[in-house]
Amino acid sequence: MGEQTPPLPYPFTSDEPLELSPLYVGLRAGPLCRVRLPYGEDAWLVTRYADARAVLSSPQFSLAAGTGRDQPRMRPYSFSGTGLLSTEGPDHSRLRGVVARHFSARRIDQMRVRMQEVTQELVDRLQESGPPGDLVQDFASPLSRIMIFDLLGVPEKGRDRVQKCLDAVLGYNVSAEDFTAQAESYLTYLTDVVELRRQKPREDLLTCLLQAREEGRLTQDELFELTSELLIGGFSTIYHQISNFLYLLLRRPEWLQRLREHTSDIAGAVEEMLRYVPLPNGLIFPRYATQDIEVGGALVRAGEPVLVDMSAANRDPAVFSDAETLLLEREPEAPHLSFGYGAHLCVGRQLARLELQIALRTLLGHMPGLKLAVPDSGMRWKTEAILKGPHELPVHW
Ligand code: HEM
Repeated sequence: MGEQTPPLPYPFTSDEPLELSPLYVGLRAGPLCRVRLPYGEDAWLVTRYADARAVLSSPQFSLAAGTGRDQPRMRPYSFSGTGLLSTEGPDHSRLRGVVARHFSARRIDQMRVRMQEVTQELVDRLQESGPPGDLVQDFASPLSRIMIFDLLGVPEKGRDRVQKCLDAVLGYNVSAEDFTAQAESYLTYLTDVVELRRQKPREDLLTCLLQAREEGRLTQDELFELTSELLIGGFSTIYHQISNFLYLLLRRPEWLQRLREHTSDIAGAVEEMLRYVPLPNGLIFPRYATQDIEVGGALVRAGEPVLVDMSAANRDPAVFSDAETLLLEREPEAPHLSFGYGAHLCVGRQLARLELQIALRTLLGHMPGLKLAVPDSGMRWKTEAILKGPHELPVHW
């Protein structure tokens, strides 16, 4: 059926930076469709919520089977998952067991005081040096960087360098040479950091990973892959979302005011913005069918890749009423899929939630009169990168 129609070029674009293409509306009404990314094999695309959950939780779809395949991707070189996102079954449970307790709700709650302090310091510094200010470079980026680096136990020295490497590695328009150079520089940095922590253990996540290595619960490669995965996953995602959420709120001053007056609504507003904002820009880790299987009205053959578009599923009208509208007061009909679903559900979701909530609460509470300093037409968006977000968010107050 769908196999005969030519694959659609993916990702679909939209005129508005944080909107979804209108194409999705029609796609959700039909069976799974075929899509073609700039590189790699064609894939099936899942856009409906029920199909997304079915694929993400089914043992008949394998993430690890993508290793060594010509995976659908945005760049000529591969950006497949490492660590947790490339393992399954007992190996995945073993790796997850090593890190999961550091991300439990209780452990993350213990970070609340430090997170609040860091956030407040950044707000104080913004106020001392401005107006104007840039909420990406002066707020969102340093906040998420400090929190994840502190949690891991990465020393202060060299943090700027690693951020540059990560920004380059996450961009789509970086040349293959630059990508390799930055990736190598990043690896050297990680090696130095791991060695430093081996010599000087502390009470941090990296020390625990090293201990797990010594006890034979991790291989050396796994130690590096996990550290890298946590650093990338923990830094870039949160800082882009803080920026995106602030942008949405700044465009609607009445929302800012409402959240200032009802701070207890901030947690719910964060969940709704997580549902609504499509963060990944073409970066989806494909699942491979391990046998012929029917999904969403299409027969997926054994060995074929399936891409689950979680942003599209989050706006499925079969699940969410008025799904295309951001409703800060929404009583959600179902949990959003922005942190994934099933075995690979995001390890850092509690950290992300707390950080997003504290960032909004502190900024709104201490900066009355906060407003965008440029018109919409003056905003520059990262269209050529793995994650969506503004380059900068200039504000006045
Ligand atoms: C707003 C912030 C974040 C978003 C939207 C997000 C999103 C996701 C999603 C969608 C997945 C599942 C991918 C898949 O199944 O294909 C995932 C997995 C993962 N995330 Fe996050 N994430 C965020 C923050 C974080 C943070 C703060 C960390 C770590 C400190 C983190 C670490 C990970 C790891 C290690 C996995 C792999 C889990 C596994 O395979 O078992 N993420 N994330």
